Amino acid sequence: MAIRIEALDGPMGALVHGLDSRKPLSDEDFNLVEQAMFDHIAIVIPELEENVPWLRDFGHRFGPLVPHILDQYHHPEGYEVSIIARNTGTNESRDTAKPAGAFWHSDLSYEENPSDAIFLYSTQIPGKGGDTLAANMYLAYDSLPEKTKQRIEGLTATHRFGWNTGGATPKLTQKQRETHPDVVHPVVRTHARTRRKLLFVNPGYVMKINEVSQAESDDLLEELYAHALKPEFQFRHQWGLNMMLGLDNRASMHAAVDDYSQPRRMLRMIIGCTEKLGEAA
Ligand code: SIN
Repeated sequence: MAIRIEALDGPMGALVHGLDSRKPLSDEDFNLVEQAMFDHIAIVIPELEENVPWLRDFGHRFGPLVPHILDQYHHPEGYEVSIIARNTGTNESRDTAKPAGAFWHSDLSYEENPSDAIFLYSTQIPGKGGDTLAANMYLAYDSLPEKTKQRIEGLTATHRFGWNTGGATPKLTQKQRETHPDVVHPVVRTHARTRRKLLFVNPGYVMKINEVSQAESDDLLEELYAHALKPEFQFRHQWGLNMMLGLDNRASMHAAVDDYSQPRRMLRMIIGCTEKLGEAA
């Protein structure tokens, strides 16, 4: 069956029909899926048989797969895949105060080379709840008042893993801390593939806007987040079993919803950075 892309109503999102994890992905199909991701920011592949080597190959087509900083949750079949589990009663289940990712963030923004995209694949879902939210950061930028656009142009922000995650991230080991120093990124980025401007700050990892005082930075970030998180820029993904969600991490931020008590288990792949940041940002 040929791949078919069906745009969803709302600020972002498309369904991808016809992908088969029992067959290698053709170049033609990859190009369609990648383009759908650029066009719609979030792509949903509704039914995909679980096949970890296929998932890894699929992820690799988009760019380098980056092992997550929390190496204790790497998948036994490949460190490029992480397990995000809760309430499963197994030793891969996380016991942080809040579920992993239950705060607004863009993956790896705390790295010098942040992530282009993320893929989440569901292997266990709760009967109720456990959705994933995403916000469209192109629309957030485009709809800012002109005065604010001028104010933030050229500003930079410092990012740190676990900065403001409300108990959703475990404490890092000394080695994990040492290998992940704070990093600085522009507040306004240009997506290297779509050439569109976007707002590149997120509440989970951004500590401060560097060119202004702490108080000014706090106020400005609060204003930017209140704007970016308006409902009209948000997409709510409801999980089914064996579903995959892909998110363009440059053009969006996302958050897991902390509202379930039954088992939930996801496989996650993080696509690394494929752009030369100094040139595109
Ligand atoms: C994540 O942010 O990495 C996980 C999101 C989710 O589990 O819904």
